[in-house]
Amino acid sequence: MSDLTTMLEVGGSLAAVGGGAAYLRAEQPAAYWSMVGLPLSAARLVSSYGSVMDACGLTVAPSRLRTLAVRATTRREVRPVPPRRGIIRPTTTGMRLRLRLAPGQEPADVAASAERLRHAWGVHAVYVSVVKPGVVELRLVGFDVLRKVRMPRKAGGDFLKVPVALREDATAFVRDYRAIPHQLTLGATLAGKSMYLRHLIAGLASQPVALVGIDCKRGVELAPFASRLSALATDPEQAADLLPALVRLMEDRYDLIKARQGIASSTPDGDITSDAWGLPESERPVPVVLFVDEVAELFLVASRKDEERRDEMVTHLIRLAQLGRAAGIYLEVCGQRFGAELGKGATMLRAQLTGRVCHRVNDEASAKMALGDIAPEAVMAACAIAPERPGLAVAGDTSGGWSRIRTPYLSLGDAAAICDASAALVPALPALDPFRPAVPARPVGAPDPLAKRRPVTG
Ligand SMILES: Nc1ncnc2c1ncn2[C@@H]1O[C@H](COP(=O)(O)OP(=O)(O)O)[C@@H](O)[C@H]1O
Ligand SMILES: [Mg+2]
Repeated sequence: MSDLTTMLEVGGSLAAVGGGAAYLRAEQPAAYWSMVGLPLSAARLVSSYGSVMDACGLTVAPSRLRTLAVRATTRREVRPVPPRRGIIRPTTTGMRLRLRLAPGQEPADVAASAERLRHAWGVHAVYVSVVKPGVVELRLVGFDVLRKVRMPRKAGGDFLKVPVALREDATAFVRDYRAIPHQLTLGATLAGKSMYLRHLIAGLASQPVALVGIDCKRGVELAPFASRLSALATDPEQAADLLPALVRLMEDRYDLIKARQGIASSTPDGDITSDAWGLPESERPVPVVLFVDEVAELFLVASRKDEERRDEMVTHLIRLAQLGRAAGIYLEVCGQRFGAELGKGATMLRAQLTGRVCHRVNDEASAKMALGDIAPEAVMAACAIAPERPGLAVAGDTSGGWSRIRTPYLSLGDAAAICDASAALVPALPALDPFRPAVPARPVGAPDPLAKRRPVTG
Protein backbone atom coordinates (compact mmCIF):
# COMPACT_ATOMS: atom_id res chain seq x y z
CA MET A 1 0.00 0.00 0.00
CA SER A 2 2.74 2.42 0.99
CA ASP A 3 4.49 1.59 -2.30
CA LEU A 4 1.37 2.63 -4.15
CA THR A 5 1.18 5.92 -2.22
CA THR A 6 4.83 6.67 -2.94
CA MET A 7 4.31 5.91 -6.63
CA LEU A 8 1.27 8.14 -6.73
CA GLU A 9 3.16 10.95 -4.99
CA VAL A 10 6.16 10.71 -7.28
CA GLY A 11 3.93 10.37 -10.34
CA GLY A 12 1.89 13.36 -9.22
CA SER A 13 4.88 15.62 -8.74
CA LEU A 14 6.40 14.49 -12.03
CA ALA A 15 3.14 15.29 -13.81
CA ALA A 16 3.10 18.72 -12.15
CA VAL A 17 6.68 19.45 -13.26
CA GLY A 18 5.88 18.22 -16.78
CA GLY A 19 2.72 20.32 -16.93
CA GLY A 20 4.61 23.37 -15.64
CA ALA A 21 7.33 22.88 -18.23
CA ALA A 22 4.79 22.52 -21.04
CA TYR A 23 3.01 25.68 -19.89
CA LEU A 24 6.30 27.58 -19.67
CA ARG A 25 7.30 26.36 -23.11
CA ALA A 26 4.06 27.58 -24.68
CA GLU A 27 3.71 30.87 -22.82
CA GLN A 28 7.24 31.95 -21.94
CA PRO A 29 9.50 30.32 -24.51
CA ALA A 30 12.47 32.49 -23.57
CA ALA A 31 12.28 31.46 -19.90
CA TYR A 32 11.75 27.83 -20.90
CA TRP A 33 14.80 28.01 -23.10
CA SER A 34 17.05 29.39 -20.34
CA MET A 35 15.86 26.92 -17.72
CA VAL A 36 15.19 23.71 -19.63
CA GLY A 37 15.92 23.90 -23.36
CA LEU A 38 19.44 25.26 -23.18
CA PRO A 39 20.90 22.70 -20.74
CA LEU A 40 19.21 19.83 -22.61
CA SER A 41 20.32 20.93 -26.07
CA ALA A 42 23.84 21.78 -24.90
CA ALA A 43 24.18 18.32 -23.33
CA ARG A 44 22.90 16.70 -26.50
CA LEU A 45 25.30 18.71 -28.60
CA VAL A 46 28.35 17.90 -26.49
CA SER A 47 27.57 14.20 -26.17
CA SER A 48 26.62 13.57 -29.78
CA TYR A 49 28.85 16.04 -31.62
CA GLY A 50 31.20 13.53 -33.26
CA SER A 51 28.54 11.05 -34.29
CA VAL A 52 26.17 13.74 -35.62
CA MET A 53 28.94 15.30 -37.71
CA ASP A 54 29.77 11.84 -39.02
CA ALA A 55 26.14 11.12 -39.88
CA CYS A 56 25.88 14.46 -41.69
CA GLY A 57 28.96 13.69 -43.76
CA LEU A 58 30.90 16.54 -42.20
CA THR A 59 33.89 14.47 -41.10
CA VAL A 60 37.10 13.92 -43.01
CA ALA A 61 39.57 11.02 -42.99
CA PRO A 62 42.21 11.43 -40.27
CA SER A 63 45.69 12.53 -41.23
CA ARG A 64 48.38 9.90 -41.52
CA LEU A 65 50.13 11.26 -38.42
CA ARG A 66 46.95 10.98 -36.39
CA THR A 67 46.33 7.44 -37.65
CA LEU A 68 49.83 6.40 -36.61
CA ALA A 69 49.49 8.08 -33.21
CA VAL A 70 46.15 6.43 -32.48
CA ARG A 71 47.41 3.03 -33.61
CA ALA A 72 50.55 3.33 -31.50
CA THR A 73 48.85 4.43 -28.28
CA THR A 74 45.47 2.69 -28.26
CA ARG A 75 43.81 -0.34 -29.73
CA ARG A 76 40.77 1.72 -30.83
CA GLU A 77 39.81 1.92 -34.48
CA VAL A 78 40.83 5.14 -36.20
CA ARG A 79 37.73 7.32 -36.58
CA PRO A 80 37.08 10.14 -39.06
CA VAL A 81 37.57 13.64 -37.65
CA PRO A 82 34.78 16.22 -37.33
CA PRO A 83 35.46 19.99 -37.66
CA ARG A 84 37.09 21.35 -34.50
CA ARG A 85 34.49 22.86 -32.20
CA GLY A 86 34.82 26.06 -30.20
CA ILE A 87 33.13 26.67 -26.86
CA ILE A 88 29.34 26.88 -26.69
CA ARG A 89 28.14 30.43 -26.01
CA PRO A 90 24.62 30.50 -24.58
CA THR A 91 22.35 33.42 -25.49
CA THR A 92 18.86 34.36 -24.37
CA THR A 93 17.38 32.87 -27.52
CA GLY A 94 19.76 30.06 -28.39
CA MET A 95 23.46 29.38 -28.51
CA ARG A 96 26.42 30.10 -30.71
CA LEU A 97 29.24 27.87 -31.63
CA ARG A 98 32.25 28.26 -33.91
CA LEU A 99 33.59 25.48 -36.08
CA ARG A 100 36.96 25.31 -37.78
CA LEU A 101 36.35 23.65 -41.12
CA ALA A 102 38.38 20.57 -41.89
CA PRO A 103 40.57 20.71 -45.02
CA GLY A 104 38.47 20.30 -48.13
CA GLN A 105 35.26 21.58 -46.54
CA GLU A 106 33.39 24.76 -47.37
CA PRO A 107 30.73 26.68 -45.41
CA ALA A 108 28.05 25.50 -47.86
CA ASP A 109 28.67 21.90 -46.71
CA VAL A 110 27.73 22.85 -43.15
CA ALA A 111 24.81 25.03 -44.31
CA ALA A 112 23.45 22.10 -46.32
CA SER A 113 23.28 20.06 -43.11
CA ALA A 114 21.63 22.80 -41.02
CA GLU A 115 18.25 21.06 -41.06
CA ARG A 116 19.78 17.75 -39.95
CA LEU A 117 21.71 19.46 -37.16
CA ARG A 118 18.58 21.14 -35.86
CA HIS A 119 16.79 17.83 -35.51
CA ALA A 120 19.78 16.10 -33.98
CA TRP A 121 20.18 18.75 -31.27
CA GLY A 122 16.50 19.53 -30.75
CA VAL A 123 16.56 23.24 -31.52
CA HIS A 124 14.18 25.40 -33.55
CA ALA A 125 16.63 26.34 -36.30
CA VAL A 126 20.33 26.39 -37.16
CA TYR A 127 21.93 29.18 -39.22
CA VAL A 128 25.44 29.17 -40.58
CA SER A 129 27.55 32.25 -41.24
CA VAL A 130 31.18 32.69 -42.23
CA VAL A 131 33.35 34.42 -39.62
CA LYS A 132 36.62 34.31 -41.56
CA PRO A 133 38.10 31.89 -44.05
CA GLY A 134 38.04 28.44 -42.51
CA VAL A 135 35.79 29.36 -39.58
CA VAL A 136 31.99 29.29 -39.54
CA GLU A 137 29.60 30.22 -36.79
CA LEU A 138 26.59 28.05 -36.05
CA ARG A 139 23.76 30.12 -34.63
CA LEU A 140 21.31 27.78 -32.94
CA VAL A 141 17.91 29.31 -32.19
CA GLY A 142 16.05 27.56 -29.39
CA PHE A 143 12.45 28.55 -30.14
CA ASP A 144 10.33 30.46 -32.64
CA VAL A 145 11.45 34.02 -31.88
CA LEU A 146 8.97 35.54 -34.34
CA ARG A 147 5.92 34.35 -32.40
CA LYS A 148 6.31 36.98 -29.68
CA VAL A 149 8.84 39.47 -30.89
CA ARG A 150 11.25 40.95 -28.38
CA MET A 151 14.05 43.04 -29.79
CA PRO A 152 17.56 42.21 -28.58
CA ARG A 153 18.98 44.69 -26.10
CA LYS A 154 21.97 45.56 -28.26
CA ALA A 155 20.06 46.05 -31.49
CA GLY A 156 22.56 48.33 -33.25
CA GLY A 157 20.54 51.55 -33.49
CA ASP A 158 22.49 54.66 -34.45
CA PHE A 159 22.11 57.86 -36.46
CA LEU A 160 19.87 56.99 -39.45
CA LYS A 161 19.89 53.34 -38.42
CA VAL A 162 16.68 52.01 -36.93
CA PRO A 163 16.37 48.46 -35.61
CA VAL A 164 12.86 47.97 -36.89
CA ALA A 165 12.22 44.23 -36.72
CA LEU A 166 13.61 40.90 -35.59
CA ARG A 167 15.06 38.36 -37.99
CA GLU A 168 14.23 34.70 -37.57
CA ASP A 169 17.80 34.04 -36.43
CA ALA A 170 17.15 36.39 -33.48
CA THR A 171 19.32 39.24 -34.78
CA ALA A 172 17.90 42.72 -35.33
CA PHE A 173 16.91 43.84 -38.80
CA VAL A 174 18.24 47.37 -39.06
CA ARG A 175 16.90 49.89 -41.54
CA ASP A 176 20.07 51.75 -42.43
CA TYR A 177 19.26 54.80 -44.54
CA ARG A 178 22.85 55.52 -45.46
CA ALA A 179 23.43 52.01 -46.81
CA ILE A 180 20.03 51.60 -48.48
CA PRO A 181 18.59 55.07 -49.10
CA HIS A 182 15.17 54.12 -50.45
CA GLN A 183 12.89 51.24 -49.66
CA LEU A 184 9.66 49.73 -50.92
CA THR A 185 7.40 47.87 -48.49
CA LEU A 186 4.60 45.85 -50.03
CA GLY A 187 1.81 43.81 -48.50
CA ALA A 188 -1.92 43.14 -48.60
CA THR A 189 -4.18 45.22 -46.42
CA LEU A 190 -3.82 44.33 -42.71
CA ALA A 191 -0.44 42.72 -43.35
CA GLY A 192 1.47 45.12 -41.09
CA LYS A 193 2.91 47.77 -43.39
CA SER A 194 1.74 50.73 -41.36
CA MET A 195 3.14 49.08 -38.23
CA TYR A 196 6.50 48.92 -39.98
CA LEU A 197 6.31 52.65 -40.80
CA ARG A 198 5.24 53.39 -37.24
CA HIS A 199 8.42 51.77 -35.91
CA LEU A 200 10.60 53.72 -38.31
CA ILE A 201 8.96 57.01 -37.35
CA ALA A 202 9.23 56.23 -33.65
CA GLY A 203 12.87 55.21 -34.13
CA LEU A 204 13.81 58.33 -36.08
CA ALA A 205 11.79 60.70 -33.87
CA SER A 206 14.62 61.06 -31.36
CA GLN A 207 17.21 61.80 -34.05
CA PRO A 208 18.04 65.09 -35.80
CA VAL A 209 16.08 64.14 -38.92
CA ALA A 210 13.16 65.82 -40.67
CA LEU A 211 10.20 63.49 -41.11
CA VAL A 212 7.77 64.12 -43.95
CA GLY A 213 4.60 62.10 -44.54
CA ILE A 214 2.26 61.50 -47.44
CA ASP A 215 -0.75 59.50 -46.31
CA CYS A 216 -3.62 59.61 -48.75
CA LYS A 217 -5.87 57.69 -46.35
CA ARG A 218 -6.75 61.20 -45.10
CA GLY A 219 -3.88 60.92 -42.67
CA VAL A 220 -5.29 58.21 -40.44
CA GLU A 221 -1.92 56.47 -40.17
CA LEU A 222 0.47 59.40 -40.05
CA ALA A 223 -1.56 62.30 -38.61
CA PRO A 224 -1.15 60.98 -35.04
CA PHE A 225 2.56 61.73 -35.43
CA ALA A 226 1.89 65.32 -36.56
CA SER A 227 3.79 66.82 -33.62
CA ARG A 228 7.07 65.40 -34.94
CA LEU A 229 6.40 65.75 -38.69
CA SER A 230 7.93 68.62 -40.64
CA ALA A 231 5.30 68.24 -43.38
CA LEU A 232 2.25 66.11 -44.00
CA ALA A 233 0.03 65.65 -47.04
CA THR A 234 -3.21 63.79 -46.49
CA ASP A 235 -4.62 63.75 -50.02
CA PRO A 236 -3.21 63.74 -53.58
CA GLU A 237 -3.81 67.50 -53.99
CA GLN A 238 -1.64 68.32 -50.98
CA ALA A 239 0.93 65.76 -52.13
CA ALA A 240 1.05 67.51 -55.52
CA ASP A 241 2.13 70.70 -53.71
CA LEU A 242 4.50 69.03 -51.28
CA LEU A 243 6.51 66.97 -53.77
CA PRO A 244 7.72 69.95 -55.86
CA ALA A 245 8.75 71.66 -52.61
CA LEU A 246 10.87 68.64 -51.74
CA VAL A 247 12.42 68.60 -55.22
CA ARG A 248 13.27 72.30 -54.79
CA LEU A 249 14.82 71.55 -51.42
CA MET A 250 16.91 68.86 -53.08
CA GLU A 251 18.04 71.23 -55.80
CA ASP A 252 19.00 73.88 -53.23
CA ARG A 253 21.10 71.29 -51.47
CA TYR A 254 22.90 70.47 -54.69
CA ASP A 255 23.57 74.19 -55.14
CA LEU A 256 25.06 74.24 -51.65
CA ILE A 257 27.35 71.33 -52.47
CA LYS A 258 28.31 72.99 -55.73
CA ALA A 259 29.12 76.26 -53.98
CA ARG A 260 31.41 74.33 -51.71
CA GLN A 261 33.15 72.82 -54.72
CA GLY A 262 33.50 76.33 -56.20
CA ILE A 263 35.99 77.33 -53.54
CA ALA A 264 37.82 74.12 -54.20
CA SER A 265 41.02 75.54 -55.70
CA SER A 266 42.37 76.13 -52.21
CA THR A 267 40.66 73.19 -50.51
CA PRO A 268 42.42 69.85 -50.31
CA ASP A 269 41.13 67.13 -52.64
CA GLY A 270 39.67 65.12 -49.82
CA ASP A 271 37.33 68.00 -48.90
CA ILE A 272 35.73 68.25 -52.33
CA THR A 273 32.45 66.47 -52.13
CA SER A 274 29.56 65.52 -54.35
CA ASP A 275 27.43 64.48 -51.45
CA ALA A 276 25.81 66.24 -48.47
CA TRP A 277 27.74 64.01 -46.07
CA GLY A 278 31.04 65.39 -47.30
CA LEU A 279 30.14 68.93 -46.16
CA PRO A 280 31.52 70.19 -42.85
CA GLU A 281 29.15 69.46 -40.01
CA SER A 282 28.11 73.09 -39.54
CA GLU A 283 26.91 73.33 -43.16
CA ARG A 284 25.51 69.85 -43.53
CA PRO A 285 21.78 69.90 -44.22
CA VAL A 286 19.50 67.87 -41.99
CA PRO A 287 18.45 64.53 -43.53
CA VAL A 288 14.85 64.25 -44.69
CA VAL A 289 12.94 60.96 -44.70
CA LEU A 290 9.77 60.93 -46.79
CA PHE A 291 7.20 58.32 -45.77
CA VAL A 292 4.56 57.46 -48.36
CA ASP A 293 1.77 55.18 -47.12
CA GLU A 294 -0.43 53.60 -49.82
CA VAL A 295 1.58 54.90 -52.75
CA ALA A 296 -0.95 53.69 -55.34
CA GLU A 297 -3.24 56.56 -54.29
CA LEU A 298 -0.78 58.94 -55.94
CA PHE A 299 -0.92 57.00 -59.19
CA LEU A 300 -4.63 56.41 -59.53
CA VAL A 301 -6.70 59.06 -61.27
CA ALA A 302 -10.45 59.24 -61.57
CA SER A 303 -10.63 61.69 -64.43
CA ARG A 304 -8.61 62.85 -67.39
CA LYS A 305 -8.20 66.25 -65.75
CA ASP A 306 -6.16 64.71 -62.92
CA GLU A 307 -3.79 62.91 -65.25
CA GLU A 308 -1.43 65.80 -65.65
CA ARG A 309 -1.13 66.23 -61.90
CA ARG A 310 -0.46 62.51 -61.50
CA ASP A 311 2.30 62.52 -64.11
CA GLU A 312 3.93 65.47 -62.41
CA MET A 313 3.82 63.81 -58.99
CA VAL A 314 5.28 60.59 -60.32
CA THR A 315 8.07 62.49 -62.06
CA HIS A 316 8.89 64.31 -58.83
CA LEU A 317 8.96 61.05 -56.89
CA ILE A 318 11.26 59.47 -59.46
CA ARG A 319 13.58 62.48 -59.31
CA LEU A 320 13.69 62.32 -55.53
CA ALA A 321 14.51 58.61 -55.73
CA GLN A 322 17.20 59.13 -58.36
CA LEU A 323 18.93 62.12 -56.90
CA GLY A 324 17.79 62.37 -53.29
CA ARG A 325 20.44 60.26 -51.60
CA ALA A 326 23.37 62.61 -52.11
CA ALA A 327 21.22 65.50 -50.85
CA GLY A 328 20.25 63.56 -47.73
CA ILE A 329 16.66 62.83 -48.84
CA TYR A 330 15.40 59.28 -48.33
CA LEU A 331 12.21 57.55 -49.43
CA GLU A 332 10.19 54.97 -47.55
CA VAL A 333 7.35 53.81 -49.78
CA CYS A 334 4.50 51.49 -48.78
CA GLY A 335 1.82 49.96 -50.96
CA GLN A 336 -0.31 46.93 -51.64
CA ARG A 337 0.88 46.34 -55.19
CA PHE A 338 3.43 48.20 -57.18
CA GLY A 339 3.55 47.02 -60.77
CA ALA A 340 3.31 48.28 -64.30
CA GLU A 341 -0.49 48.39 -64.07
CA LEU A 342 -0.21 51.58 -62.00
CA GLY A 343 0.84 53.28 -65.21
CA LYS A 344 3.67 55.36 -66.53
CA GLY A 345 6.64 55.65 -64.22
CA ALA A 346 5.70 52.93 -61.74
CA THR A 347 8.34 50.39 -62.69
CA MET A 348 10.93 53.11 -63.06
CA LEU A 349 10.26 54.32 -59.54
CA ARG A 350 10.29 50.75 -58.22
CA ALA A 351 13.71 50.14 -59.73
CA GLN A 352 15.08 53.03 -57.66
CA LEU A 353 13.79 51.62 -54.39
CA THR A 354 16.60 49.26 -53.48
CA GLY A 355 15.47 48.00 -50.11
CA ARG A 356 12.57 45.57 -50.32
CA VAL A 357 10.29 44.23 -47.64
CA CYS A 358 7.30 42.10 -48.56
CA HIS A 359 4.57 41.37 -46.04
CA ARG A 360 1.78 38.87 -46.63
CA VAL A 361 0.40 39.23 -50.14
CA ASN A 362 -2.69 37.87 -51.85
CA ASP A 363 -1.01 36.56 -54.97
CA GLU A 364 2.38 35.59 -56.26
CA ALA A 365 2.44 38.48 -58.72
CA SER A 366 2.48 41.00 -55.84
CA ALA A 367 5.35 39.19 -54.12
CA LYS A 368 7.23 39.19 -57.41
CA MET A 369 6.81 42.95 -57.64
CA ALA A 370 8.66 43.31 -54.36
CA LEU A 371 11.19 40.51 -54.44
CA GLY A 372 11.21 38.99 -57.94
CA ASP A 373 14.11 41.08 -59.19
CA ILE A 374 16.11 40.54 -56.00
CA ALA A 375 15.79 36.97 -54.75
CA PRO A 376 13.40 34.66 -56.62
CA GLU A 377 13.22 32.07 -53.83
CA ALA A 378 12.17 34.80 -51.41
CA VAL A 379 8.98 35.17 -53.47
CA MET A 380 7.87 31.69 -52.36
CA ALA A 381 8.64 32.52 -48.73
CA ALA A 382 6.56 35.69 -48.96
CA CYS A 383 3.63 33.79 -50.45
CA ALA A 384 3.70 31.36 -47.52
CA ILE A 385 3.15 34.02 -44.80
CA ALA A 386 0.03 33.22 -42.78
CA PRO A 387 -2.57 35.92 -42.07
CA GLU A 388 -2.46 35.00 -38.35
CA ARG A 389 0.92 36.65 -38.08
CA PRO A 390 0.59 40.31 -39.07
CA GLY A 391 3.93 42.05 -39.24
CA LEU A 392 5.77 39.00 -40.56
CA ALA A 393 7.62 39.83 -43.76
CA VAL A 394 10.41 38.78 -46.04
CA ALA A 395 13.22 41.28 -46.40
CA GLY A 396 15.47 41.03 -49.40
CA ASP A 397 18.83 42.62 -49.88
CA THR A 398 20.49 43.39 -53.17
CA SER A 399 23.14 40.73 -52.70
CA GLY A 400 20.45 38.09 -53.32
CA GLY A 401 20.06 37.13 -49.66
CA TRP A 402 16.79 37.38 -47.81
CA SER A 403 15.40 36.68 -44.36
CA ARG A 404 12.10 36.47 -42.53
CA ILE A 405 11.51 39.38 -40.19
CA ARG A 406 8.74 40.54 -37.86
CA THR A 407 8.14 43.86 -36.20
CA PRO A 408 7.32 43.97 -32.50
CA TYR A 409 3.88 45.29 -31.59
CA LEU A 410 3.76 49.05 -31.03
CA SER A 411 0.42 50.70 -30.50
CA LEU A 412 -0.48 53.86 -32.36
CA GLY A 413 -0.89 55.63 -29.02
CA ASP A 414 2.59 54.69 -27.82
CA ALA A 415 4.17 55.74 -31.11
CA ALA A 416 2.27 59.05 -30.99
CA ALA A 417 3.47 59.58 -27.41
CA ILE A 418 7.08 59.07 -28.54
CA CYS A 419 6.54 61.66 -31.27
CA ASP A 420 4.91 64.12 -28.85
CA ALA A 421 7.84 63.71 -26.46
CA SER A 422 10.33 64.55 -29.21
CA ALA A 423 8.29 67.34 -30.80
CA ALA A 424 11.02 69.83 -29.90
CA LEU A 425 13.41 68.04 -32.23
CA VAL A 426 11.57 69.05 -35.40
CA PRO A 427 14.41 70.68 -37.36
CA ALA A 428 14.09 74.16 -38.85
CA LEU A 429 13.36 73.75 -42.55
CA PRO A 430 11.71 76.94 -43.85
CA ALA A 431 11.02 75.32 -47.24
CA LEU A 432 8.61 72.90 -45.62
CA ASP A 433 6.95 75.31 -43.18
CA PRO A 434 3.80 75.77 -45.33
CA PHE A 435 3.18 72.03 -45.09
CA ARG A 436 3.66 71.68 -41.35
CA PRO A 437 0.59 69.84 -40.01
CA ALA A 438 -1.57 71.37 -37.33
CA VAL A 439 -1.06 69.44 -34.12
CA PRO A 440 -4.38 68.37 -32.67
CA ALA A 441 -4.65 69.10 -28.96
CA ARG A 442 -4.82 65.81 -27.10
CA PRO A 443 -6.19 66.61 -23.67
CA VAL A 444 -5.88 63.74 -21.27
CA GLY A 445 -9.14 61.91 -20.72
CA ALA A 446 -11.09 63.90 -23.31
CA PRO A 447 -14.04 62.00 -24.75
CA ASP A 448 -13.53 60.38 -28.13
CA PRO A 449 -15.22 62.69 -30.70
CA LEU A 450 -16.18 59.67 -32.82
CA ALA A 451 -17.90 57.99 -29.89
CA LYS A 452 -21.04 60.09 -30.31
CA ARG A 453 -21.45 59.02 -33.90
CA ARG A 454 -21.17 55.33 -33.22
CA PRO A 455 -24.48 53.59 -34.01
CA VAL A 456 -26.28 52.15 -31.06
CA THR A 457 -26.50 48.39 -31.36
CA GLY A 458 -28.49 45.78 -29.54
N1 LIG B 1 4.19 42.87 -35.63
C1 LIG B 1 2.91 42.84 -35.28
N2 LIG B 1 2.53 42.17 -34.18
C2 LIG B 1 1.24 42.13 -33.82
N3 LIG B 1 0.24 42.73 -34.50
C3 LIG B 1 0.56 43.41 -35.59
C4 LIG B 1 1.92 43.50 -36.05
N4 LIG B 1 1.94 44.24 -37.17
C5 LIG B 1 0.66 44.59 -37.40
N5 LIG B 1 -0.17 44.10 -36.47
C6 LIG B 1 -1.63 44.29 -36.41
O1 LIG B 1 -2.18 43.98 -37.67
C7 LIG B 1 -3.14 44.92 -38.05
C8 LIG B 1 -2.80 45.50 -39.40
O2 LIG B 1 -1.62 46.21 -39.34
P1 LIG B 1 -1.32 47.46 -40.29
O3 LIG B 1 0.08 47.86 -40.01
O4 LIG B 1 -2.36 48.51 -40.14
O5 LIG B 1 -1.45 46.78 -41.72
P2 LIG B 1 -1.47 47.43 -43.16
O6 LIG B 1 -0.96 48.83 -43.06
O7 LIG B 1 -0.61 46.54 -43.97
O8 LIG B 1 -2.89 47.37 -43.64
C9 LIG B 1 -3.19 45.95 -36.96
O9 LIG B 1 -4.31 45.71 -36.15
C10 LIG B 1 -1.94 45.75 -36.17
O10 LIG B 1 -2.15 46.01 -34.81
MG1 LIG C 1 -1.76 50.61 -43.72
